[in-house]
Amino acid sequence: MTKLKWTGFAKKSPQERINLLKNASLLQTNNQENLDKQVELPLDIANQMVENVITKLALPLAIAPDFLVDGKTYHLPMVTEEPSVVAAASFAAKLIKRSGGFTTTIHNRQMIGQVALFDLHDFEEATTAILHQKQLLISLANQAHPSIVKRGGGARDLWLEQKEDFLIVYISINTKEAMGANIVNTMMEALVPPLEKLSKGQALMAILSNYATESLVTAKCHLKLSSLSRNHDEAHLLAQKLVKASQLAQLDPYRASTHNKGIFNGIDALVLATGNDWRAIEAGGHAYAARDGQYRGLSQWTYDQKTATIHGQLTLPMPIATRGGSIGLNPTVTLAHDLLGNPNAKELAGLMTCLGLAQNFAALKALTSTGIQAGHMKLQAKSLALLAGAKEAEVGPLVQKLLNEKHMNLATAESLLNSLRNAKRS
Ligand code: HMG
Repeated sequence: MTKLKWTGFAKKSPQERINLLKNASLLQTNNQENLDKQVELPLDIANQMVENVITKLALPLAIAPDFLVDGKTYHLPMVTEEPSVVAAASFAAKLIKRSGGFTTTIHNRQMIGQVALFDLHDFEEATTAILHQKQLLISLANQAHPSIVKRGGGARDLWLEQKEDFLIVYISINTKEAMGANIVNTMMEALVPPLEKLSKGQALMAILSNYATESLVTAKCHLKLSSLSRNHDEAHLLAQKLVKASQLAQLDPYRASTHNKGIFNGIDALVLATGNDWRAIEAGGHAYAARDGQYRGLSQWTYDQKTATIHGQLTLPMPIATRGGSIGLNPTVTLAHDLLGNPNAKELAGLMTCLGLAQNFAALKALTSTGIQAGHMKLQAKSLALLAGAKEAEVGPLVQKLLNEKHMNLATAESLLNSLRNAKRS
C-alpha cells in the first residue's frame, strides 16, 4: 500500500484516479473491482426501489480528499451535477487541515414522530389522560417495532403541545443506524387508537417529523489568518469581510437562502452519495434556519484578531442513516460508504456537517475576494465546452477561449468550437 498524495488529483484522468485509490488500498476488493468495471445500479434493482422504472439517471461521483475531522482523515464522495462544488470543498478542506481540521459534536440522535389530534371537547382532560398513560404509550410504540428495541433503540419520551385546535403528541425515538422513517411511522400509527380513546378526539395524521431537532450536529473549524493570504493586510481584510458575510446571512433572508444553498451544495452531494434522503435533510435544515421566526444563515464566522484566527461553526439537524432505505442496494452507494471507512450514523452525520461548513467557507471566501465567477466560471466553462460537443483534446483550448469571452453561454461555446475546428482544418 502506498501513501496517497492528493496534490494534483484534479489534473489526473478518472482512470489515473481509480489507479491511485487501488495503489493506496482505499477500498475493499469487491468495491475496487466494482469501480474498475464501473458497475452501477442494475435495472432490476432500480425497478424494486421505485415505481414505473424505465432507466436510470447517472450523475458524477467525485472525491473531495483530505478532510481532517476529529483527528481522522476522510476522503468524501460527492455526487453533484454542479461544477466548482467539489473543487471548492477540496480547497477548503486543504486550508482547514493546515489549521488543525474540524471538530464535531453530536448533540443527540433521536427522531421525532407526531400524532395530531383534533375535535377535542376538553384539552386539559385529554392532556392529563395522555400524560397519565405516558409509559404505557411508550411501551405500545415499542411493541409496534420490536426489532429496533432489540437493537438497543426504541421510543424514549413523549410530550404534548396545544396549537390552536390541535393537541399534538410528540414522541422521540432512538432509531440507531437507520434514518427511521418506517420505524417512526409504524410506531405513530400504532398509537392512534389509544390516543383517540384517551383524548376522546380524532387523529388527523400520524407521521415522522423531518424537523429533527433531537438530531442536531455541530461542526467547528478555525483557520489561521495567514491561510487566507500571505499578505497580512489582505488576510485581515478578508477575515473581516468573512464575518460581515456571516452577519449579512443572519439579517437578510434573501442572502440567507443563497448562503444556505451553498452549505447544501456540499451536504446534499454527500447525502446523495451515501444513499440518504436529501429531501429530509434539506427540509429539516431549512426549518432549523427559521427556528426563531426569521430565516437565517445556518453557519457563523467570527474573527479573533488577538490570536489571528477565524472561527467557523455550523449546527443543523442531521438524521443520517447507514442502514435501511436504498442503502445496500446500490453498489455505488456501498462503495461510497467503504471509501469513508464505513462510519456509523453519528460519524457520518458529523462528516456531512463538516462538508457543509467547508463548502460555505470556500463560497464566502470567493464571494468576498475575487467574486464567485472567477473560480466557478472557469469550471463552468468546462461543462459548456463538453455540452457544445468538444472532444477531450478540444476541451482545454475551448475553455481558454470561453474564459476570454464577456458572455459565456452554449451558443458562444458552439461557435468557438466551430472556429477552432475550422482553424485546425485550414
Ligand atoms: P483557486 O484558488 O483558483 O484554486 O480556487 P487553485 O487552482 O489554487 O487550487 C487550490 C486547491 O483547490 C487545489 O489544490 C484543489 O484542492 C482545489 P491542489 O489539488 O492543486 O493541491 N481545486 C480543485 N479541485 C478539483 N478540481 C479542480 C480544482 N481547482 C482547485 N478543477 C476554487 C478555485 C474553485 C477552489 C475557488 O475559486 C472556490 O472555492 N470558489 C467557490 C466555488 C463555489 O462555491 N462553487 C459552488 C457553486 S456557486 C453556488 O452555488 C454557491 C454560492 O452561491 C453560495 C453562496 O452564495 O454562499 C456561491
